[in-house]
Amino acid sequence: MAKKKGAGIIVFKVALWYCTILGIFAAYTNWLPQIRGDAPEAAVAIDVSAVTPEMLQEMGEKIIYGSHDPLGVLARGEGPIGKGQCPLCHRFFMEQKADRCPNMIALKTEPQKLLQVSEEARSHERVKEPRYEEAKKRLADGEKDSGIVPHAETGGQYLIESEYCPNCFVVEGFGLKGTNDTVSPMPIINKPPIQLVDTEIVAVVSYLQMRDDPSKWTAKDDWEAYFGEELGANEEDAAPAEEKPAGPPVALGSESPEEIVTKMTCYACHKIPGISVAKTGAIGPLLIEGTNSANRLKSPEYQAAVKAGKAHATTPREYVIESIMDPGAFIVPGFADDMMKDFKHKFTVSGLDVLVDYLLAQDEAAALADGMDRLPNEKEGPIKKPEAKVDTGEAVAKNKSMSDDKQTVKVSSSGVIESSTFIGLN
Ligand code: HEC
Ligand code: HEC
Repeated sequence: MAKKKGAGIIVFKVALWYCTILGIFAAYTNWLPQIRGDAPEAAVAIDVSAVTPEMLQEMGEKIIYGSHDPLGVLARGEGPIGKGQCPLCHRFFMEQKADRCPNMIALKTEPQKLLQVSEEARSHERVKEPRYEEAKKRLADGEKDSGIVPHAETGGQYLIESEYCPNCFVVEGFGLKGTNDTVSPMPIINKPPIQLVDTEIVAVVSYLQMRDDPSKWTAKDDWEAYFGEELGANEEDAAPAEEKPAGPPVALGSESPEEIVTKMTCYACHKIPGISVAKTGAIGPLLIEGTNSANRLKSPEYQAAVKAGKAHATTPREYVIESIMDPGAFIVPGFADDMMKDFKHKFTVSGLDVLVDYLLAQDEAAALADGMDRLPNEKEGPIKKPEAKVDTGEAVAKNKSMSDDKQTVKVSSSGVIESSTFIGLN
């Protein structure tokens, strides 16, 4: 397990914990409003002795939504998505679309009340499920990505564990296809690229617990019981979250594909060859548009979408632009309409060009060279490996240079349309 027992004087630790909270609070009041484009908020002076569960809840709200008015953000047709990125996948409000993951809807008001059960309530049941016992046995030597052995004893500890080790318990029906619900598509929240620090995770869990009923708050005790140490005792965790560059979330032509993918969070759902943050996304297809886009255009499913007046692309480039600007136009078979619809407000024309060029240059060989493959639900099936006769390294290299030649032709010959005209359609 990555956590060590912390030693030191309690008073010092408590002081450190408060300092950490203050540091993180300061970081949030500074950068989040700018990132989300909300009106800047005045920095709030906080009395060190007065950090309350309510403050943690508030901090959690901002980490999750990037705003204290998520419904207002939704009403503007945008995604309320903060640093934690949970609403990319989880549904927190009835008004929000996103159904591929367990919902996190609160129950206070109609019609949410009809749902009967909140995540807080569900968490207590999870640890009693026979599948949780099975997972404990199966992962007795430690889950491979986090090193954690599942050991939550209470609902709150289960919520904490879910962030550090999504594979420790995978909700039935929500695992990656073909893994019998043993592999979760959820990223590890304390690792890059999301990388929340311990206190931020406690804040997020505080929010989940207190949203329906403030008396349900146990997050800090849960964290400490789960890891057997004081929250904030680790020096590395005491550093406030790394600050992201300030500015509205718009992809610019001056940025690299890696920067755009990071800023726009494409990596949360897609694997993309050659992009270091995009190695695990499993909600949408592997983005090898040098291979995929032409095949999609030819497919009967795409032709049907064209006939129905929904899809309009005629070249690979148009297809990729359409997929980003108007994701509902065509749903890749094997997937759901889960991509957010607000990217059309978030790209400059040149920023879109940078990303589209990059995606069109990725193909099966590039994916193999980066150790990536299609998801089990992609109907094309796994990528065929090059002939095994040759030494693998060589085979991959050869295949890559061949495909590079092919790409040059493909990209330059694809009747390029003015992206701006295309965006205008949406
Ligand atoms: C890329 C998509 C994705 C993101 C981002 C994501 N999750 Fe998840 N999450 C899932 C999926 C899929 C599951 C169900 C599979 C599983 O149990 O791991 C899940 C499961 C969970 C569970 C267990 C649910 C239950 O009912 O047992 C919790 C709690 C949770 N997520 C919290 C969060 C929080 C908090 C964040 C943000 C800090 C977050 N998730 C970000 C996809 C995501
Ligand atoms: C919340 C998850 C999510 C995020 C974030 C996301 N996508 Fe997607 N994307 C999907 C899903 C699911 C599909 C398949 C369903 C569909 O066709 O809409 C998809 C489909 C696509 C396709 C079509 C792929 C093909 O091979 O046909 C492209 C291109 C694409 N996304 C690009 C992007 C880019 C670029 C970003 C970031 C700017 C992004 N996506 C962010 C979920 C996501």
